[in-house]
Amino acid sequence: MQQYKKDFPIFQKNQKLVYLDSAATSQKPKIVLDAIVEYYETYNANVRRGLYAIAEKATVKVEEVRKQTARFINAKYPEEIIFVRNATEAINLVAYSLGNYIKKGDSIVTTIMEHHSNFVPWQQLAKINGAKFEVIDINDNFQFSIFNFQSNLNFQKSKMLAITHVSNVLGTINPIKEIIRKVRSKNPHIKILVDAAQSVPHMSVDVQDLDCDFLVFSGHKMMASTGIGVLYGKKELLAQIQPFLYGGDMIKEVTIERTIFADVPYKFEAGTPDIAGIISLGSAIEYINSTGINRVQNYEFRIMNYAMERLKKIDGLTLYGPQNAQNRSGVISFNIDGIHAHDVAQVLGDMNICIRSGHHCTMPLHKRLGVPATARASFYIYNDEEDVDKLIDGLKEVKKIFSH
Ligand SMILES: Cc1ncc(COP(=O)(O)O)c(C=O)c1O
Repeated sequence: MQQYKKDFPIFQKNQKLVYLDSAATSQKPKIVLDAIVEYYETYNANVRRGLYAIAEKATVKVEEVRKQTARFINAKYPEEIIFVRNATEAINLVAYSLGNYIKKGDSIVTTIMEHHSNFVPWQQLAKINGAKFEVIDINDNFQFSIFNFQSNLNFQKSKMLAITHVSNVLGTINPIKEIIRKVRSKNPHIKILVDAAQSVPHMSVDVQDLDCDFLVFSGHKMMASTGIGVLYGKKELLAQIQPFLYGGDMIKEVTIERTIFADVPYKFEAGTPDIAGIISLGSAIEYINSTGINRVQNYEFRIMNYAMERLKKIDGLTLYGPQNAQNRSGVISFNIDGIHAHDVAQVLGDMNICIRSGHHCTMPLHKRLGVPATARASFYIYNDEEDVDKLIDGLKEVKKIFSH
């Protein structure tokens, strides 16, 4: 199962590295690193302004990646793709831009399994606008019970639903298409944002099929560089809402009296974008497409299955999230009785095994689980069974050390 690891230079340069923290950020294949170097070495120029060859090449490349990204998530139009810094910025953009649409007495709905980036912006917007902030709970299976989901909330006064596709702690894959369909049948006017930061890198996502209004993800979790993220929005909605940032590049005409904003997507892309980041995103998509997103998902499923089976055999280890790998994505959070998650991560770190510990930017979820922290191992295409074996051996060592 080592076919993909060779594509990632970091594993050649650091052969002892066991990287199990891809939910935080992924490693980058050589094709992505080469594309960044090629841009800086051969056509580094700003976009949408220079009238010379390398500026035109950079501009054309950025627009090609916009089209490529649109195809990747099956957006209807390339203009529906807005380049931002990361998923967090994309969510904030929507929250700011929709500001006036949420009125006193309306409600904004989100869920207990959200990352803070899809929780805090909505909580704050609700506070500022005097709206209700409603949080959907999970059941004992770490999933939403669709039945309760419907009966507890009638969505009649809800203007916004912000919901994650995949939990970055539980790994739960939410039946997002079904949820959107049910919520829309209760309230056809509600706006729905899907946080796809943990799904787009790992599984096929089709925004037209989902029928979401907005969807966000980060390039750095799908093998592109840090600093590039994507906001997808339905074109007619993007045309209606206010820009988030004002300045150069987002205008058609400026006079002392007024400004006419550029059309979508440019009205949301003020200032010089992360050109190298956009190019890296194009290469990352190319890499995923050449592997096949379904193959990525199946491959990860095999690793996850293997990891879960082995982890379950460790005495005193609690796994959070659906117990069956079928219903989850490449994230496994756990605790070992009597050992703090930070201690687990620290001892593994000393062995070059990289996992994460803490609340993973989901404090409300950890409060709901009744634990202050969890340890989290997360997987991607470059991991293999040997990585899992090293994790298991490492955890046995952790237990040995703390039993004394
Ligand atoms: C589910 C989820 N949403 C949003 C984010 C935020 O991503 P970023 O830090 O790239 O903005 C993360 C990051 O871990 C995440 O896991």
